[in-house]
Amino acid sequence: MENKVVEEKEVDMIPLMTPYKMGNFELCHRVVLAPLSRQRSYGNIPQPHAILYYSQRTTKGGLLIGEATVISETGIGCNDISGLWTKEQVEAWKPIVNAVHAKGGIFFSQIWHAGRVSNKEVIEKAKSQIGVLKELYSRLAEIVHECPGQYYRYHGDWKSETQTVVSLLAFMHWLETGTLVLHSEVEEKLGLTPTEFGLDVDDYLIGICFMSNELPRYVVNQVTAGDYDCPRKVLKFLTDLHAAFRMLNLRNDFLRKKFDGMKYDLRKVEEVFYDVKIRGLAANGDSAGEKQA
Ligand SMILES: Cc1cc2nc3c(=O)[nH]c(=O)nc-3n(C[C@H](O)[C@H](O)[C@H](O)COP(=O)(O)O)c2cc1C
Repeated sequence: MENKVVEEKEVDMIPLMTPYKMGNFELCHRVVLAPLSRQRSYGNIPQPHAILYYSQRTTKGGLLIGEATVISETGIGCNDISGLWTKEQVEAWKPIVNAVHAKGGIFFSQIWHAGRVSNKEVIEKAKSQIGVLKELYSRLAEIVHECPGQYYRYHGDWKSETQTVVSLLAFMHWLETGTLVLHSEVEEKLGLTPTEFGLDVDDYLIGICFMSNELPRYVVNQVTAGDYDCPRKVLKFLTDLHAAFRMLNLRNDFLRKKFDGMKYDLRKVEEVFYDVKIRGLAANGDSAGEKQA
């Protein structure tokens, strides 16, 4: 009996074991389960085995921070991470959360968006198609090779597809590296050789303009998904791109029109950037985008 009193007193003395009021939550002690990604939410759906996992780690009045949980399909940073953007995922979480609550635990979800790296899987899928394009261009090059000096006679038949291909490659490249894909890099990716069947410079530049047209939509989607730093990065990139295009002496043709349209992309991204900033959502510390703006 005496021993028990002594033990209780000792427990009282350990600060880690003392209660803590965390906002509206009355924690019985200060030992917290740190967020630990388990990558066992197959297909991003939390699995029933997580009921046992989390309830084993629950104590009465103890705080648990759940594994990083993605809030959008665009935010997946690694395989089989848990998700919270579909009804099915929400339903799958419920028995897990209920099990924690049943033992008196307090459960927080660590919501997550992996930002630009999250496009990894999508990019891998797209990359696997580059080989198909390469094959098609090589066949086209063979056909054109049979008609020496006739490249520009038939060029109109494939130029708009090539411009789309350039825009997609440029977008993928930007997602991966944050930089502009070079003309020579596109040629290399598609297996084109300047002497035999090269990439027309206008097709490259128009493709880059197409890519620029996609960026405002991308920025809005990213912000909606919780990536508030995206507008700053895109704004910096687009500002540099616009400045580089301005140095070109363009003819009054389609490319010129596409370039003129780029300023509208820039304006739209700027608006999102300022909106995010005014709402206090932009990341602090890096003023690169502001300087450009
Ligand atoms: C396998 C593993 C998965 C993790 N997953 C997450 C996570 O989803 N979210 C997070 O914020 N931290 C995560 N962490 C970091 C742990 O929460 C962190 O290691 C823990 O808080 C201990 O902190 P310390 O490493 O600074 O001692 C993970 C760590 C490991 C080892």
